[in-house]
Amino acid sequence: MLNPTCYFSVFLVSIVSCFYENNSNYEPKWIYFLNNQKKLMSDLFDGYDNSVSPVYSQVDPSKPLGYDLEAPKRFNYTLFLYFVKLVEVVEPEEKVTLVLEISEAWFDPRLAWEANSYNGINTLYVRQEKVWSPTLNSYKVNDMNDLRDQDFRIVSIDSSGRVNTTTSLRMSINCPLNVAVFPFDSQTCVMQFTMPLFPIHFVELHTELFDGIANSTAWSLMGNAEWDMINLTNRVEILAYGDYQLATFEITIRRNPMYYIYMIVLPSFIINTLSIIGVFMRKADRMSKLNVGLTNIMTMTFILGVMADKIPKTGSIPLLGIHIVVNLFITVAAVAVTVFIEKIKKVVLPRLRKRKGLWSYKLEGILEDWMDIICMIVLETISCVNFFIIIGFWIANS
Ligand SMILES: *[C@@H]1O[C@H](CO)[C@@H](O)[C@H](O)[C@H]1NC(C)=O
Ligand SMILES: *[C@@H]1O[C@H](CO)[C@@H](O)[C@H](O)[C@H]1NC(C)=O
Ligand SMILES: *[C@@H]1O[C@H](CO)[C@@H](O)[C@H](O)[C@H]1NC(C)=O
Ligand SMILES: *[C@@H]1O[C@H](CO)[C@@H](O)[C@H](O)[C@H]1NC(C)=O
Ligand SMILES: *[C@@H]1O[C@H](CO)[C@@H](O)[C@H](O)[C@H]1NC(C)=O
Repeated sequence: MLNPTCYFSVFLVSIVSCFYENNSNYEPKWIYFLNNQKKLMSDLFDGYDNSVSPVYSQVDPSKPLGYDLEAPKRFNYTLFLYFVKLVEVVEPEEKVTLVLEISEAWFDPRLAWEANSYNGINTLYVRQEKVWSPTLNSYKVNDMNDLRDQDFRIVSIDSSGRVNTTTSLRMSINCPLNVAVFPFDSQTCVMQFTMPLFPIHFVELHTELFDGIANSTAWSLMGNAEWDMINLTNRVEILAYGDYQLATFEITIRRNPMYYIYMIVLPSFIINTLSIIGVFMRKADRMSKLNVGLTNIMTMTFILGVMADKIPKTGSIPLLGIHIVVNLFITVAAVAVTVFIEKIKKVVLPRLRKRKGLWSYKLEGILEDWMDIICMIVLETISCVNFFIIIGFWIANS
């Protein structure tokens, strides 16, 4: 007598084996395809050595490209950019971090097959470690992170021997920033890749942009809160000192100056305008005038510090820095003028009173009643001009 447990396990085994081995669970076409693919796989990789490159290297580097008409075409390696997203810009370090979606494509003639012999199978998907692949190498970057799992990379091979794979990269590039017109600046940065060891005589690099990301609608999605992407181009360069090519993607990003307008330019304009009025207030005593002036100077210095944290320490003073320094000088001038006006009045007025001419009488009146107001108007005008110059730059750059 068999016991129930035994019955049960026989039952289970038969169910499981039914799913694993019973071919009639598959469509007939599927079985046919899988069998053909199995055959293709074993034919293709029979004797294939994935540690040896297919790059044709019997080329004399001293002769011009293509001198040997019988030699095969150069090995070509294409980088196809699907998407790029700006993650952050660290201005003091001149570091720009991006996430890229890139597809690599190359030809390996050893992996070509006759599709008709395998019932028209055109594409084969295999693990990347099974095939030889060129290593993607970035050039002049801080840091590059391949976000794929090393063990589970897949390539597609088509019957002409074209191998494709895609990858997500996070890279930090060094990008010299020109902050002369900060915060209305645009920056241009390049992301470069190369295939080291294989000089230009052996390989040719290509770059391509996905059509869908070659217009400004698509670029508007690639920036971050502070920066807008305004251009994206691709090209191939030749390394200055030698025989290597650089697959180059160039981005242009423009800073969104709103933050600086609202947080720095507008408040400093208001504070400046009010404190100039405060400094020249008729009734106020000298000490409180000085107080207003000095508080304003401190505020400007503080704002200058906020700005300084956001820019690389280059030799040139950025536009916003000049604006704030001018504001600072306006306030210093206001304080200095009030102090001196008092002195001048003390020294000059008694002398003017002694002379009895018409001119000195007029001068006395101006000094007595109008001097403060004239100085105030002059300084307010300079402050307004300073403000409108920066607004003008904003309008011109947007
Ligand atoms: C395979 O499965 C079909 C139904 O899905 C069934 O009729 C047939 O008996 C099974 N054959 C075997 C060998 O298990
Ligand atoms: C790359 O090489 C393959 C095989 O040699 C060739 O068929 C293909 O046209 C080449 N591609 C380019 C863009 O030159
Ligand atoms: C491989 O990438 C190229 C772009 O470089 C593309 O045109 C082609 O369709 C891709 N092939 C496959 C099989 O995905
Ligand atoms: C720009 O690309 C987007 C897709 O990213 C597309 O929807 C849009 O039609 C394109 N615009 C133009 C003018 O080509
Ligand atoms: C993008 O840059 C390229 C090369 O510098 C230039 O030819 C093109 O006009 C620029 N496109 C835009 C929209 O600025």
